[in-house]
Amino acid sequence: MAVNTRTPLIAGNWKMNLDHLQAVAFVQKLHWTLKDAKHDGGSVEVALFPPFTDLRTVQTLLDADKIPFALGAQDISSHDSGAYTGEVSGAFLAKLDNRYVIIGHSERREYHAETDEVVAAKVQAALKHGLAPVICVGETLEQREESGPTAVSVAQLEVALEGVPSNADIVVAYEPVWAIGTGQVASPEQAQEVCAALRGVITDKLGEDAAARTRVLYGGSVKAANIASFMREPDVDGALVGGASLVVDEFAAIIRYQKHVGV
Ligand code: PGA
Repeated sequence: MAVNTRTPLIAGNWKMNLDHLQAVAFVQKLHWTLKDAKHDGGSVEVALFPPFTDLRTVQTLLDADKIPFALGAQDISSHDSGAYTGEVSGAFLAKLDNRYVIIGHSERREYHAETDEVVAAKVQAALKHGLAPVICVGETLEQREESGPTAVSVAQLEVALEGVPSNADIVVAYEPVWAIGTGQVASPEQAQEVCAALRGVITDKLGEDAAARTRVLYGGSVKAANIASFMREPDVDGALVGGASLVVDEFAAIIRYQKHVGV
């Protein structure tokens, strides 16, 4: 088996929280908290996903203070430009130094009726503009009971990876819908089982090199108290964190998860 050289990724999905002024205070505090704690930068990649209206402000701050967090958006239009009121193009996101974009989050699938085909089109749009899609997949409780733990996520990822080249820079996030914002966290074994199945899909669709290189994250009620247990699993390469990414000390403790290993 290939040696795991994947850099862990801790991603903070702010959802519709923190305006641009609150965002500045948050990023500064997080940076200082990690600095004071002598965070050994480089061992973990940190990515922040603020609302669209914060992106320019956060980008300017990261740039001015040389803060080593990556920036990402929470959504992207499948179109490049034109008469699409309310949509945001990947071209605009790329100009603001975004490295990532979340695609197919269950809240978008559920509240905005995003189908697997829409998700696939957005993945193509992201890649076209040099953004790495963070492709979210996951099952509801009913789906888990009906078709088992892996079938829904596997099927969703298969469609999302349609037409993606084998050298594409992508991230996959397994987010069981029943664990998002509910406090009902998946067990590390449950997360591992699905993340391993998703890596199998990457192998089938994009080849072994891509599967060995691509980060597969777990998301759903991740906290400082449980992050280390997920990170011990061989196919979990990081976390997509919602609620706990809005609390500086909690998110900083998640980023410094190595300190919890073995405790
Ligand atoms: P949560 O959200 O950490 O609040 O459960 C995770 C997500 O939706 O990405």
